[in-house]
Amino acid sequence: EKGGYDYFMLKEIAEQPEAIANTLLGHLEGGRIVLDEQRLSDQDLRDVDKVFVVACGTAYHAGMIAKYAIEHWTRLPVEVELASEFRYRDPVLDRSTLVVAISQSGETADTLEAVRHAKDQNARVLAICNTNGAQIPRESDAVLYTHAGPEIGVASTKCFLAQIAAAYMVGLALAQAVGTKYPDEVVSEFRALEEIPAVVEEVLEQMEAVRDLARQYAASDTVLFLGRHMGYPVALEGALKLKELAYIHAEGFAAGELKHGPIALIDDGLPVIVVMPSPEGRAVLHSKMISNVREIQARGAKTIIIAEPGDTAAAAVADHLIPIPHTPTLLQPLVSTVPMQVFAATVAQERGYDVDKPRNLAKSVTVE
Ligand code: M6R
Repeated sequence: EKGGYDYFMLKEIAEQPEAIANTLLGHLEGGRIVLDEQRLSDQDLRDVDKVFVVACGTAYHAGMIAKYAIEHWTRLPVEVELASEFRYRDPVLDRSTLVVAISQSGETADTLEAVRHAKDQNARVLAICNTNGAQIPRESDAVLYTHAGPEIGVASTKCFLAQIAAAYMVGLALAQAVGTKYPDEVVSEFRALEEIPAVVEEVLEQMEAVRDLARQYAASDTVLFLGRHMGYPVALEGALKLKELAYIHAEGFAAGELKHGPIALIDDGLPVIVVMPSPEGRAVLHSKMISNVREIQARGAKTIIIAEPGDTAAAAVADHLIPIPHTPTLLQPLVSTVPMQVFAATVAQERGYDVDKPRNLAKSVTVE
């Protein structure tokens, strides 16, 4: 049942193109994005004037990615918050607030309580979930199921990418409802998304070099991750994967925060994994990242850079380069996450750990 892989997680990493493709399947009808169980009227969606995304762990990182895309496409204010914080605050919500709850299991205690907290204040709730009929979708007003198939590995991989794809569709559905996107624009964004599974496939075929690199750094005590804009949540996810699987101190930072503290950690030989934005995207994002990398390299860091092959500026400051094909800026997380997952799984295997069942962790956190 592991399909020839040593661990479910490795099989699930390989299944990611399919997970994204299946999640997108059937959601574009006549130029419009359709959700699954929509107990919300079109008018309800048109009335949305603010979005809150709530989730835990990896799903929270998908929420951070969702924020950037939804804001860009809808021009609605979007906040993203850990469900465990949201539920104990007094967030300002009303009937025109859409709360998007992201949960693979659909049973996470804090996310479920965040949904109830939102409903108590009359907010509308949309769930992104991988488990049919779980509690969170049952209590929500609308659902978008991720069709990643069962995820056995405790560390979330294919569900993360499927959650991101689903969150993009929520953004497009909202954009068409509030009127910031015309049907042809929705179709073209959706088509760009549909091309991603083939790109992820291409990345997966090139992972041997990442495995070699991971073996080389498997004895590290600390690994840092750096990203900016769409790369920031990817950096956080890379760090989470490495700490939960390999029990290594791993931290992700927003590159712009370096000078506000984290740069003090940079020491001779410290590996830093960097997510480089596309040089064909916003020039300022790319040039700022290049200067951040120069700063850490000058202080002795070993730079491992995930970048597009044509990115000569990134190649010039990289001790190691992990090439990923070009993708539109907003969609890059679906691609740049993959080497992070492979890196973490390989380090864990190299250290002799069970990557499917990391110590102290449960697949679904139904108690707080
Ligand atoms: O089932 P959920 O998506 O609600 O789970 C949320 C987190 O518990 C989960 O993503 C956790 O962080 C994973 N161990 C990450 O790999």
